[in-house]
Amino acid sequence: MARKIIKRSWAEPYRMKMVELLKMTTREQRNKAIKEAGYNTFLLHAEDVYIDLLTDSGTNAMSDRQWSAFMTGDEAYAGSKSYYILEDTIKKYYGYKYVVPTHQGRAAENILSKILIKKGDIVPGNMYFTTTRLHQELAGGTFQDIIIDEAHDPYNEHPFKGNVDLAKLEKLVKKYGAKRIPYVCIATNVNMAGGQPISMANLKELRAYTKKHGIRIIHDMTRVAENAFFIQQREKGYANKSVRQIVKEICSLTDGATMSAKKDALVNIGGFMAINDWDIFEEARNLVVVFEGLHTYGGLAGRDMEAIAVGIVESLDDNHQKARVGQVEYLGKKMIEYDVPIVKPIGGHGIFVDAKAFLPHLTQDQFPAQTLAAEIYVDSGVRTMERGIVSAGRKPNGENYYPKLELVRFTLPRRVYTQAHMDVIAESAAAVYDRRKSIKGLKIVYEPKYLRFFQARFEKLK
Ligand code: F0G
Repeated sequence: MARKIIKRSWAEPYRMKMVELLKMTTREQRNKAIKEAGYNTFLLHAEDVYIDLLTDSGTNAMSDRQWSAFMTGDEAYAGSKSYYILEDTIKKYYGYKYVVPTHQGRAAENILSKILIKKGDIVPGNMYFTTTRLHQELAGGTFQDIIIDEAHDPYNEHPFKGNVDLAKLEKLVKKYGAKRIPYVCIATNVNMAGGQPISMANLKELRAYTKKHGIRIIHDMTRVAENAFFIQQREKGYANKSVRQIVKEICSLTDGATMSAKKDALVNIGGFMAINDWDIFEEARNLVVVFEGLHTYGGLAGRDMEAIAVGIVESLDDNHQKARVGQVEYLGKKMIEYDVPIVKPIGGHGIFVDAKAFLPHLTQDQFPAQTLAAEIYVDSGVRTMERGIVSAGRKPNGENYYPKLELVRFTLPRRVYTQAHMDVIAESAAAVYDRRKSIKGLKIVYEPKYLRFFQARFEKLK
């Protein structure tokens, strides 16, 4: 009798030809390591980490094609062939007219913010990102969150939690006037909301509204291909469009972009600023020389630009995204099976565990997400990242931001770990969950001025 197959699984559209051996540690060694790191997973030595889910940034595995392209890098100081290859690729696949390479995303944010933001300006965005908001503030602007309310609720299953609430934007336009809003900053696949997409319909409405008021849209396109994959899966009218087509359409609804190529574009370093306006490009091309390097390398080696160009194309492959997002989903479903409270829907680049629900006996001032990240590391050597009150930092006036979301991010590097690794990770989260009541919070003992989450130190509460 013919077997009835009820499920057809996805699998990776690649195989491995080189592996990196990992160090295994004991719980005792990990207890010592995390204490020495001030209970901050950023301060651990990577060597002491078994499965590294700190970030999906710059931690991707490059393909054989990317490594081959690396060898063809043109290291000329000026006018490198590799720059023109990168420029052509960005124009072809994203559609922006002018490109300024930078060493990573925040360098593009710095340049763009310096050019477009004046003191007293308001910069609305679909949720903040740490470096993006800081550059806006350092340029004299104030960030205003205009994401839909659903994005701040970890359990709301809205399929497009990255959407903008146009009524919130309208309120800002009425209050401050369009002239004080140099641009709206739109992230695709909103990182801090849990890797949640914005819909094409919402972006189109935003485009129509901003056009009417003469306001630009600047696109933080760090994870645009993952966002496009969700549009393909969830939005009416897009099921038969490719990720590549959807990405191009998203970009066409915006005026320029900042990009950290370390995520979607599958490289270990790199980024760029892209813009359709010649005058802004001219200024950026000039400013990049001050901070990064000549406008045809922007702090990158020629070989880096070659690898980005190949990575961009690979990132737009439907099968790549299916496996990429599929792996994140696999991990998320395991966590749900074990009753671990996670942000829903499952996002694009990682699983975000709700630390407030995980450790309800801790107040936000006792740093539940920071605490949980440290506990997970001690349990299994899995390194995760706090995305809560520590990451949110302080306002320019010194007060703490108190974000609604207090999360631990289990971020998956692309093409790096296997399904067996996913099992180990979910089982570790479950084991810590089972002993959650015995977990004590932390107090902060050192705090740097900017982006404190990177270097802050903590001690365990008695
Ligand atoms: N925008 C978003 C949405 C990001 O996630 C990041 C980096 C940046 C901009 C800045 O880019 O790191 O190349 O300077 N996110 C990393 C993370 C650090 O772990 O989420 P960068």
